[in-house]
Amino acid sequence: MKRRNFIQHLCPALTITQIALLSSCQNEDEPVAPATSAEEKEFQRVSALFNTDGFFQEGKNVFVNLAHKNFSKLADISGFTNVIEAGILLLKTDATNIKAFDNCCPHQGARGAWVLTNGRFKCQNHGNSYNTTETNPVGCDSNSLSGGLVRYPVTLYKTYLKVVKA
Ligand code: FES
Repeated sequence: MKRRNFIQHLCPALTITQIALLSSCQNEDEPVAPATSAEEKEFQRVSALFNTDGFFQEGKNVFVNLAHKNFSKLADISGFTNVIEAGILLLKTDATNIKAFDNCCPHQGARGAWVLTNGRFKCQNHGNSYNTTETNPVGCDSNSLSGGLVRYPVTLYKTYLKVVKA
């Protein structure tokens, strides 16, 4: 029996307004489950799917477990990790932020030769460097000798990071 019908069954003399007020007051007394956003649900769903390297790919999304030892460098500001297989380069920019970039070099597409020098990523393949400030972003393997790496949006939930590769 629904709550409204149950109350009306007990007190047939109550008006519709009184029943509505009583029903709403009783709803407030019920235990309230913590609000769970769609993103939180998604993180909870994938938390069991991380591989032994601490990340999980699903379509254009890459989920990273920052608590995994492979991402320990991201605990320090200016620490970075190149997840070559997932195509992302992660950089801790301040105490609370991590930026994600396409790890494909805008020059000729190398993915595994990055070092960080003076706040810029330098590809050791031919020595070109690219900014991390989203100034003049240049795409993968576009023969660009300068500009910025393409940045991807991220979402953080507890120790999980979601990167959406555009
Ligand atoms: S491929 Fe990176 S600098 Fe040439």
